[in-house]
Amino acid sequence: MLNETYDIGLGNHDTDLRKKASSDFLSFWDEQAKNLTWFTPWNKTLEWNPPFAKWFVGGTINASYNALDIHQKTRSNKPAILWEGENDESRVITYGEMFTQVQKFSNVLKSLDVKKGDRVTIYLPMVPELPIAMFACARIGAIHTVIFSGFSAESIKDRIADSHSKVVITADGGYRRGKVVPLKEVVDEAIKDFDFVKHVVVLERTKNKIPVSSKDKFWSDLMNDALESCDAEKLDSAHPLYILYTSGTTGKPKGVLHGTGGYLTHLYSTFKWAFDIKDSDVFFCTADIGWVTGHSYVVYAPFLHGATQIMYEGAPDFPDATRMWDILQKYRATIFYTTPTALRMFMKFGDEIPNSFDLSSLRLLGTVGEPINPEVWKWYFKTIGKEKCPIIDTWWQTETGGMLISSLPGLETIPLKPGSGTLPIPGVDIDVVDENGNSVSTNTKGYLVIKNPWPGMLLTLWGDDEKYKTVYWSKYENCYYPGDYALKDEDGYMWLLGRADDVLKIAGHRIGTAELESCIVSHHDVAESAVCGIPDDVKGEVIVAFVVLKQGIVDSKILEKEISDKIRNDIGAIATPKQIYFVSKLPKTRSGKIMRRLLKAIAKNEKIGDVSTLEDGAAVTEVQNAFDEIQ
Ligand code: WTA
Repeated sequence: MLNETYDIGLGNHDTDLRKKASSDFLSFWDEQAKNLTWFTPWNKTLEWNPPFAKWFVGGTINASYNALDIHQKTRSNKPAILWEGENDESRVITYGEMFTQVQKFSNVLKSLDVKKGDRVTIYLPMVPELPIAMFACARIGAIHTVIFSGFSAESIKDRIADSHSKVVITADGGYRRGKVVPLKEVVDEAIKDFDFVKHVVVLERTKNKIPVSSKDKFWSDLMNDALESCDAEKLDSAHPLYILYTSGTTGKPKGVLHGTGGYLTHLYSTFKWAFDIKDSDVFFCTADIGWVTGHSYVVYAPFLHGATQIMYEGAPDFPDATRMWDILQKYRATIFYTTPTALRMFMKFGDEIPNSFDLSSLRLLGTVGEPINPEVWKWYFKTIGKEKCPIIDTWWQTETGGMLISSLPGLETIPLKPGSGTLPIPGVDIDVVDENGNSVSTNTKGYLVIKNPWPGMLLTLWGDDEKYKTVYWSKYENCYYPGDYALKDEDGYMWLLGRADDVLKIAGHRIGTAELESCIVSHHDVAESAVCGIPDDVKGEVIVAFVVLKQGIVDSKILEKEISDKIRNDIGAIATPKQIYFVSKLPKTRSGKIMRRLLKAIAKNEKIGDVSTLEDGAAVTEVQNAFDEIQ
């Protein structure tokens, strides 16, 4: 553990807030919720029927109203989005214009018979119409379910089947690395058997030629006919705002369901404390809206604060390695929030590139999504922040809604330690425990747990309360189990040490091993498969797959390609393995469970540990040889 500290802050010292939070976390969150605009106040801060939480019971609120309507008197001409297209196009969209567009699109949704509680699937590239569609859903009480535009038809199909969306919103295409990604065709393929999908709204982004069916309606036609005004629905605080599918340890992705009042309170507060947001700031979060970081800290949080932000359509290194710094310089960005994977890539390109740009407008830097290596942290601090910007390393998950561990330069100045997320946010009780749920001593690795409910927490998993209970609340009694290893040091600082379960983090993207394995096994020549992550200098982790073929099938380059193509087709390009190994058997326990712990240990060059339950030692030798080959 690196105990080098950096005393850098923004001069904020609100010691009272932490005191209040630790003496009574409910009245603390109660105070925070008052920062939002409610139609009717709540009469109970929290209704806690473990593990189901309802925050601000009795209150009515609307996310779109808090993002747009409340800013119209003072900020209607203020830029909300400074949009940078991949091919040098740019657009500035003000709060006033967003307000009009969102109201019009809300009327479009109503004209397509979308009602409160209905689900709407959104499969769009990073264009302003994506947040417009999300806010429009929120405005009328429809539940949006955004799917990352890199996912395949098969993935979309599963998600639409699960959410039973009656409308899908997509585009004729999206730009990625100079190519047009055919989104509409992917949607057509995904919904071909779904009669319950009544309409497909198509945004004309690339003006590409696309197949048109009777379900299709064009965005521009619908908007031309739409009325300009649509009042926001008064919704219960716990009304579902969205479903976002995410990978877990078993089978198909889970539909994480978030509510409204609690979620917005969490985002409003963390955006203020962590990012120290001011009216004059230009915020840039590089996350795609298809992931939770984009939902929370591109769409909802900045809008709650009436902030100006940059939104970028393409890949961070396209057309070349100068792209990010060019954007930061062009818009005089003040706050930059990105991933350790992106930083490792920029670092590899060399210092000359960022050094040739004027990045002097930056005042705060952040990272999210995976552990940051201390040397990358220091590079970010020196080369990008010129030793004057605090860095926030924010730990959270799709399920937590917003950050739970981060330094908070907008609240207090504490010494920073490269590689540590520092302290839990106020009002959240976090501990590190052993297998039996007992707190471990200082500097000892254990499991991270959250001991009380927090406002941004998921309501449940869509349509599966039982799974919600077993996945998150069954390992420890009345404690939320996120699936991460952590340790707490002598100063109470948290160090996140990676996933404790079978979830992979590839370039910061969450991918479940079970999902990948069932995809590989569905290839007709495959008998069995086990996948695991191995460390990678840039992506943090990359995927390695072990495949046992059916009897009589001989491995070949063609088969390897077929399996890779299948993964790309069924899940998406982000899940493609770096290496596929054909082996004759997998290391298993005598009861037949694949010993992934062994695969991981071999991959990390760690001691294999206790193998007394192993069925056949030869399987380990085979796997070991396979790894040695790549080293
Ligand atoms: C990991 C992304 C270390 C962690 C917001 C968590 C991190 C998972 C950090 C959730 C961080 C996220 N340091 N690890 N600062 N932030 N993680 O749902 O393993 O895509 O459980 O949410 O990412 O991934 P998800």
